[in-house]
Amino acid sequence: MATKERWGTRLGLVLAMAGNAVGLGNFLRFPAQAAKNGGGAFMIPYIVALIVMGLPLMWVEWTLGRYGGQFGHHSAPGILQSTARGRGWKYFGVFGIWANLIIAAFYVYIESWCLAYAGFSAIGGFRDTPAKEFYNNLIGASENNIFSISIWGMGVFAVCIVLNVFILSRGLARGIETVAKIGMPILILFAAILAVRGLMSQVGDEGVVESPFVGLNFVWEPKLDSLANPAVWLAAAGQIFFTLSIGIGSIHCYSSYLRAKDDIALTGATTAWTNEFCEVVLGGTVLIPIAVAYLGLSHVADPETSGFALGFLSFPTLFQKWGWLAAPAGFLWFGLLFVAAITSSLAMGQPIMAFLQDEYGFDRKRSALAFGGMLLLLAVPVAIFEQKSFFDEFDFWGGTFALVVFAFGESILFGWVFGMDKAWAEMNRGAELKIPSIFYYFIKYLTPVFLFFILAGSIFQPKAGWDAYSNALFKGEEMPAWEWSGSGVIGKILHKDIEDSSDPQKQAFNEDLKLVRTIDRLVLVGVFLFFSVLVYFAWKRRAAEGRLAT
Ligand code: ALA
Repeated sequence: MATKERWGTRLGLVLAMAGNAVGLGNFLRFPAQAAKNGGGAFMIPYIVALIVMGLPLMWVEWTLGRYGGQFGHHSAPGILQSTARGRGWKYFGVFGIWANLIIAAFYVYIESWCLAYAGFSAIGGFRDTPAKEFYNNLIGASENNIFSISIWGMGVFAVCIVLNVFILSRGLARGIETVAKIGMPILILFAAILAVRGLMSQVGDEGVVESPFVGLNFVWEPKLDSLANPAVWLAAAGQIFFTLSIGIGSIHCYSSYLRAKDDIALTGATTAWTNEFCEVVLGGTVLIPIAVAYLGLSHVADPETSGFALGFLSFPTLFQKWGWLAAPAGFLWFGLLFVAAITSSLAMGQPIMAFLQDEYGFDRKRSALAFGGMLLLLAVPVAIFEQKSFFDEFDFWGGTFALVVFAFGESILFGWVFGMDKAWAEMNRGAELKIPSIFYYFIKYLTPVFLFFILAGSIFQPKAGWDAYSNALFKGEEMPAWEWSGSGVIGKILHKDIEDSSDPQKQAFNEDLKLVRTIDRLVLVGVFLFFSVLVYFAWKRRAAEGRLAT
């Protein structure tokens, strides 16, 4: 029985959608990617990717969702199928359920770290305990060991899973929307306080080695040399997907609860801009400038020491230089990360629940529990195996590659199968903002072409980098021998990212790692097949009941 749920208010919808998009990606992943890819050198591909992919796909997904919702579909298989003839699209739509579960499995785990860190900061724990020690205890780290466990870390993780299930079971308006209405203003306030305090740091203050404005300048000074580097383009596009929650299936799901004439043009754009405000203005002004002030630019620009490590390993310690503000600042930082994370993980649960409700007649409580159960099954290996195995693999296949595959497919479906004229009319129905007509051409031509190159670029990656080949062709440099890079899809499949070691202990670990990664990939395929089988039986049932595809 299809659900009749709706969003409570328009503001609630905007905040829930913004909560969906604004997450760990904004405050941790974005600064990490910007630092790793040269700061200002990253920003130009990032902005281009936002305009030619991010914003158009945001509208595409809102439109698909609202359209599918009119036929009682609230998850990607049904939503995609409702726009097309033929039988295949619902199976392609499985990506829009599968990716949510896979991402949630590692995302909720990080969410639980934020909760643990926020609590420990609030009681002033980092005064005496170095952040690295706390982190190792939390994840049960042990060197060269494929398997590790921390009982209390698992306890906090379980609390987070229960919290997600509880909120989801309360419903769209009373659960997700309420949390977003309370959480989003808090998050923005916390981030603004940290940004202002961070920028007030000056050389001469205790521990400050550089002005925080050096960090701001690093992010914002445009550098054109990166434009010829495909790796930076891939990183920028990947960030746009992850941060806007595009290619996951959660935006379709949220917008499927709209009415046929509700505006999506202005509301969709508002979500995207709110996310970008939180990412480039707030996210860009907290982590990097504060870290540069206390650790220096070279530390921050070094891929080994930037990003997640800065957030979890350096920040709690450097906040100790803020005097009485140390404990509150730690709480603000991890509190905001926790709120950002939970409003996003709820959006990952909803499509899975919606599928079970629409197709198998589950009620909210049962579907929330089913989501919690599936999450637990997949999250336990993420938490107990070394991070380079389940955690990194879920992140790569579910959180990076699948998003591009799904977005590419849906852009073809929207512009070419559903048909661009019909799609454009659908997109503009009830619009309170006139979508500039250039986006008609973007969505039909530019976005799929761009996506095609991003997809091809992430599959075929030579170790020497494509620029080495273009230099060989055009500048007469030596042609490098072909070898797959460990960061590309083919290189990953061949385990090229695991280097052999002469240390027997390390090598034994590497062999274990390859084995666990292979098991992990079988799990990923297995979960996809599981949902495909559920889709198959659901549509068989629809046919038997005379409720066909749309
Ligand atoms: N869009 C979410 C984030 O940025 C998944 O973390």
